[in-house]
Amino acid sequence: MPQPIPAIDDVAVNLGERSYVVRVGQGLIARAGAEIAPLLKRPRVWVVTEATVAGLHLEPLRAGLSAADIAMEALILPPGESTKSWPHLERTVEWLLDQKVERGDIVVALGGGVIGDLVGFAAAILRRGVRFVQIPTSLLAQVDSSVGGKTGINTAQGKNLVGAFHQPSLVLADIDALDTLPGRDFLAGYGEVVKYGLLGDAAFFDWLDANGPALAAGDKALRQQAVRHSVRMKADIVERDETEQGDRALLNLGHTFGHALESATGYSDRLLHGEGVAIGCLLAFDLSARLGLCSQEAPARVADHLQRMGMKRALAEIPGDLPGRDALIALMAQDKKVQAGRMRFILARAIGDSFVTADVPRETLAALLDEALKAR
Ligand code: GLY
Repeated sequence: MPQPIPAIDDVAVNLGERSYVVRVGQGLIARAGAEIAPLLKRPRVWVVTEATVAGLHLEPLRAGLSAADIAMEALILPPGESTKSWPHLERTVEWLLDQKVERGDIVVALGGGVIGDLVGFAAAILRRGVRFVQIPTSLLAQVDSSVGGKTGINTAQGKNLVGAFHQPSLVLADIDALDTLPGRDFLAGYGEVVKYGLLGDAAFFDWLDANGPALAAGDKALRQQAVRHSVRMKADIVERDETEQGDRALLNLGHTFGHALESATGYSDRLLHGEGVAIGCLLAFDLSARLGLCSQEAPARVADHLQRMGMKRALAEIPGDLPGRDALIALMAQDKKVQAGRMRFILARAIGDSFVTADVPRETLAALLDEALKAR
């Protein structure tokens, strides 16, 4: 018996003339041609991806495009964070120019956050801006980096310090692509999912607490629900504050600590971005409890959830040496949220109720980090 085709969820990102839809569901790579065709002025697209993703998804994408008579040229970059750099940006832009990509054409970013950010930035600067489609293949990219138009590269001075806001024209979040993710990468992406519940939706956190283990074990309907809800939450925030003048900073819950830990571990596989975010979220809740902003029960619930999901929760679970407390605070001070030299934190009054503040005494932060480092 033919199986019914699972429904696709559409999340609209309403940004005036920069509006677009994030489609979430199964089989979207296989039907990419039909999805992208309405955007095209000529039946051809240029796909930029990386080698690991190419091995898994490039030929299915080619077949999906060719089913709608769309031709495809592909540039395959090396996998890994170091691809998000000046040399690979130059290579991508020059390839697109050599391919004679025109202003009216569509460039496709096929991959995780590194590819989405790099290709989005290349599209932003090519001929002063061409349209692009995001096909995120990692959980992290589906729920966070492919939505909202932040694009960019890393430099010697830090992560994401060069870039542009450039919204995609369409996002195809194919839930089937998550099947190919190593378990550790899936759970790291889940760190960004749980962040949404923690920052603004206690009922979503409760839902994740109940359904997270089944979702991680592979239940596709639950995965689709979680991705759709996360994207909806992100879209709501981006619609209110596209260029991060205010509320969008809430999406950085856990990131001030997380970025410092990522930097301290050399952006290596000692700590994946989403793992740093999850540990950072717990530290943000611990800090909030120390400051008397939320109950002690809140960080205990967060810790319990991360543990039941099999995720890293504490500095002790990061392999290798970490710098001391002052060096970590210095790394935190590199954060893009710093204003007039003052660090700003995303703290919480409760699970689902976060806010931005610069009001964190250094001694409270130091005591928190001392204790976290002592437990190693
Ligand atoms: N990843 C945070 C943001 O898009 O604002």
